[in-house]
Amino acid sequence: MTQKILIFGTSNRKKVEETSDLFAKIGITLKSLADFPQGIEVVEDGASFAENAAKKASEQAAFFRTPVMAEDSGLVVDALNGAPGIYSSRFSGENATDASNNALLLEKLSNVPLEQRTAHYVCHIAIAAPSGKILAETEGICRGRIRFEPDGNAGFGYDPLFEVVEYHQTFGRLAPIMKQAISHRSRAARQILQILSGGLSLDKTA
Ligand code: IMP
Repeated sequence: MTQKILIFGTSNRKKVEETSDLFAKIGITLKSLADFPQGIEVVEDGASFAENAAKKASEQAAFFRTPVMAEDSGLVVDALNGAPGIYSSRFSGENATDASNNALLLEKLSNVPLEQRTAHYVCHIAIAAPSGKILAETEGICRGRIRFEPDGNAGFGYDPLFEVVEYHQTFGRLAPIMKQAISHRSRAARQILQILSGGLSLDKTA
């Protein structure tokens, strides 16, 4: 099988690690912004995961003059009326780290009992043509709840606090292959694979 290349417009190494295997199975090698350091900075000022994913895909596809896949993802916590949502990466401010975001999340939920700590991850993926036109978009979600203390170092972001209730484990503790089976990102990616396998061409797309 000849490998095709698709640019995944992200510099988040974990996002690429979690999806590369899935794309490899249909003969697509994902290249990330780590492979194209000349890439552009896209301002994420959309009002939804869908808007941000589409904006990242369109602006980068225009810049690279080739189709680009992009994703926007985050954590939606019911007791916080959906926060941090699209602000997940900068929940604790401009210089936020995973540790500072997790600390703020625990603080905000400090008086919330277990049964009200429900949450879900969302991942919206879009592929755009160089014209800016969106060729495909999908969304995946993964439900869980927020622990009182972090557990494990696997994954990234809120994973040490995010418990998948059916497995009694956080994504921080579960093996990466388990996250790949059930995560919001994998679910969105598998829908994209179906669209690509169903005939969406990434060649000579205007
Ligand atoms: P984005 O890079 O603007 O899409 O923001 C993604 C942010 O959402 C990350 O920085 C994390 O805070 C959170 N997030 C999204 N997906 C995951 C995941 O799979 N695990 C943990 N945190 C995630």
